[in-house]
Amino acid sequence: MKIGIVGSGYVGTTVAACLADFGHDVINVDVDESVVRQLNDGESPITEPGLDGLLDRHAGESLWATTDYDDLANVDVIFLALPTPANDDGSIDTAVVEAGAGSLGAVLADVEGYPTVVVKSTVVPGTTEDVVGPILERESGLRVGTDFGLATNPEFLREGSAVEDFQHPDKLVFGTTDDRALEALEAVYAPLLDDDVPVVRTGLREAEMIKYANNAFLAAKISLINELGNICKEYDVDAYEVADAIGLDARIGGAFLRSGVGWGGSCFPKDVAALVAAARERGYDPELLQAAIDVNDRQPQRMLDLLDRHVDVEGERVAVLGLAFKPHTDDVRNSRAIPIIEGLLERGADVVAYDPNRGATEAMRERFPEVEYLASASPTLSGASAALVVTDWPEFADLDLEFDLLSGDVVVDGRRIVERREGLTYEGLTW
Ligand code: UDX
Repeated sequence: MKIGIVGSGYVGTTVAACLADFGHDVINVDVDESVVRQLNDGESPITEPGLDGLLDRHAGESLWATTDYDDLANVDVIFLALPTPANDDGSIDTAVVEAGAGSLGAVLADVEGYPTVVVKSTVVPGTTEDVVGPILERESGLRVGTDFGLATNPEFLREGSAVEDFQHPDKLVFGTTDDRALEALEAVYAPLLDDDVPVVRTGLREAEMIKYANNAFLAAKISLINELGNICKEYDVDAYEVADAIGLDARIGGAFLRSGVGWGGSCFPKDVAALVAAARERGYDPELLQAAIDVNDRQPQRMLDLLDRHVDVEGERVAVLGLAFKPHTDDVRNSRAIPIIEGLLERGADVVAYDPNRGATEAMRERFPEVEYLASASPTLSGASAALVVTDWPEFADLDLEFDLLSGDVVVDGRRIVERREGLTYEGLTW
């Protein structure tokens, strides 16, 4: 098949490379010339395991990038993989999706046959039908369901395992309005259908809602285990033993039960806030989801409270280990390290930090230039009164004698990654 992908961000680039690997001809459209050049040179604009290999194999062969929407004239299916950033009130800003739909609509009439436009961006229920569809119709003079198909196909991939997640998903969600659009999606994903990946065939609004519900459920699950963990700590109960035990109940499931300093990243915080804002806009107050956000906001403050119990950090050197929002990524968006560092700076601490990922370190340097960033854990811990472990990078599990370099002895572990040992005043966040 011939497939167009509008947007070469995280999702667009991963999907383009993976669909080229399925044997499709893929053309990626982006307004950013440098990203287009990179893709055509076979270089990945994002860091993601497996992506370089896919681009190596397919860029310049079955995968091309362009800034020109006119190049979409020969495609069968076009995915819109554009960002939906948050407004101040948490609601999503659909301006970029609308602009992309406008540019696409202007060339849609030139596309032969019955092209299907697929919204892959995370959008609140109704956006594909009430916003994207009408823009495409207005700009093209064509009719949805008569001249072109409209679909929603949310993406559930995680950063750090995006390629693997795309190639081996738990499910595929096809939201469509007509059979031809559905058949087009089935043809795009034929290799996964052959592998018996479960397919949810549903309406546009349901597909849009499934994405939000999925992320809201997982985020709330983590907030619930964090709240239970906070209570466990009050009773000196091992929260991880409790989590392992309840995870054996098939109705609960063992995944996403690691309590700690909470969720960050580009999806959970944005999507839960957007769902809360969307529900309120409709007159429903989603108290439980708001509580999930509140618990998540409180966990970093609890880490700082635990630190305050042991040491007054004003004028003291304090080490922060972990800046990325999770291991194996350079992404610091909504990282729990941000409120932690803010709290330390407010207390007048002299903050030193280390993250195994250079990109995460540079991103944080831009945000907090007053923090000193070091190249490994040992010099970061050296001479510090206390250490806060914020991201569960595997290498932090191997730290041992390095903690002797502290001038103090306090370690507050936000991820249960550090070994409790003699000579340390160790505080686990929820255990
Ligand atoms: C998430 C969803 O998993 C993915 O399906 C969606 O498409 C995008 O959002 P991602 O943000 O890449 O993916 O990261 P994920 O691995 O899900 O972790 C999210 C956050 O939850 C991280 O901050 C992580 O540290 C935290 N987390 C996860 C926990 O605190 N405890 C857990 O048990 C699991």
